[in-house]
Amino acid sequence: MEHTEVEKPETLDDLIKILHKIFESDNINVDEVQDIMEAYQSNPQDWAKFAKPDKYRYTRNLVDDGNGKFNLMILCWGEGHGSSIHDHSDSHCFMKLLQGQLKETLFDWPDSKLKGDMVQKSQRIILENKVAYINDSIGLHRVENGSHTEGAASLHLYSPPFQTCQTFDQRTGHTNSVKMTFWSKNGERTPFETTVSQENN
Ligand SMILES: [Fe+2]
Repeated sequence: MEHTEVEKPETLDDLIKILHKIFESDNINVDEVQDIMEAYQSNPQDWAKFAKPDKYRYTRNLVDDGNGKFNLMILCWGEGHGSSIHDHSDSHCFMKLLQGQLKETLFDWPDSKLKGDMVQKSQRIILENKVAYINDSIGLHRVENGSHTEGAASLHLYSPPFQTCQTFDQRTGHTNSVKMTFWSKNGERTPFETTVSQENN
């Protein structure tokens, strides 16, 4: 492939620089992005300033807007916090664990002809520094911090960036379109009015 140089990001800033370079191209190699994100060893000193948790639900904190090519953000998960089942609006989604562990449950897209519960395909625990990948052709997922004693933080890259996604009711498969917002941007808390419909991704 065109990206043969092996660069190991020593810091989050390094990682962001490398990601900018990779995403200059319109052909994204999923394995390459996954590898480079995994190569970065999480260091809270790099990212603590972005990680702004909330007591009641998980937060989305924008770290970098990727020159319009991607959004990089840190999600802070309190004890027991979880997402709805959701899609990824035809984008790539990479999720790296910076701290703690998250449980990912995969679902098939609901079949409108079939009533009843959505079909759960698989479940896994994503460990610190590991990177998970999903897109709409793989399916839908729910992400949860199952721990009742520890928070979790994850670094998410979405490309192309998107502002709305669909959430799904597990019992019926019914969907809702949800506008996503940021709890903070570049370490600064977002004004209240823009965080009202805080949801997913
Ligand atoms: Fe997701």
